[in-house]
Amino acid sequence: MKRGLLLTLEGPEGSGKSTHSRLLAGYLIQKNIQTYCTREPGSTALGEKMRQLLLSPLHKNMSARTELLLYEAARAQHVDEIIIPALKKNVAVICDRFYDATFAYQGYGRKIDLNIVKHINDFAVNKVKPDLTILLDIDVNIGLEKSSRLSKDSFPRGESDRIEQEGTEFHKRVREGYLNLAQREPERIKVVTVESEISKTQLEIQKHIDGLLRRNNYVV
Ligand code: TMP
Repeated sequence: MKRGLLLTLEGPEGSGKSTHSRLLAGYLIQKNIQTYCTREPGSTALGEKMRQLLLSPLHKNMSARTELLLYEAARAQHVDEIIIPALKKNVAVICDRFYDATFAYQGYGRKIDLNIVKHINDFAVNKVKPDLTILLDIDVNIGLEKSSRLSKDSFPRGESDRIEQEGTEFHKRVREGYLNLAQREPERIKVVTVESEISKTQLEIQKHIDGLLRRNNYVV
């Protein structure tokens, strides 16, 4: 029996992951592949509460270690409650951010030792690993400009979230971090440059997904 697939989308702020997750789900459903879209942090009732804690601009004094542990706590719940059961049912799970985000944001961005991030990531994911990761790459300034216009989370006074509010240098380290991760794992992490036309970017994503489906004996 085939196990489901875990497809993750990653990228700096404003890279369009949510739009592309939705479009990709439509593409897979058309192929009669049972698909489920989910996101981190969040998706479970507990995870959504942790998302609020993590992203609220009110919590500006959150320490980097607290931040790391909250992301990982939300992830552990997500893995146990949603991802593992879905994979057992052969579902293709599309996850908007997963453990690479913690390497990029808390490791490279906050400068927490990458070995520590790896240990806590490993503990949270319980051996679950993405089959394929799409890294949507975008210039940091363009991305931040887009994300401030299209914020998914609403906060009092219409502010952007706590992480978006970090300076450009932080977000540049995040982007470089993601690109380093992709260099280290080129088989799993595919870099797709964000084009101004959404359909062009989506087509590139679909090509990588088709490759994965073929390797896993799905009919493409
Ligand atoms: P989103 O807005 O793309 O859904 O992501 C929420 C924010 O959380 C985004 O700024 C990236 C950040 N993040 C981390 O810093 N570490 C993590 O492990 C994850 C999953 C997200």
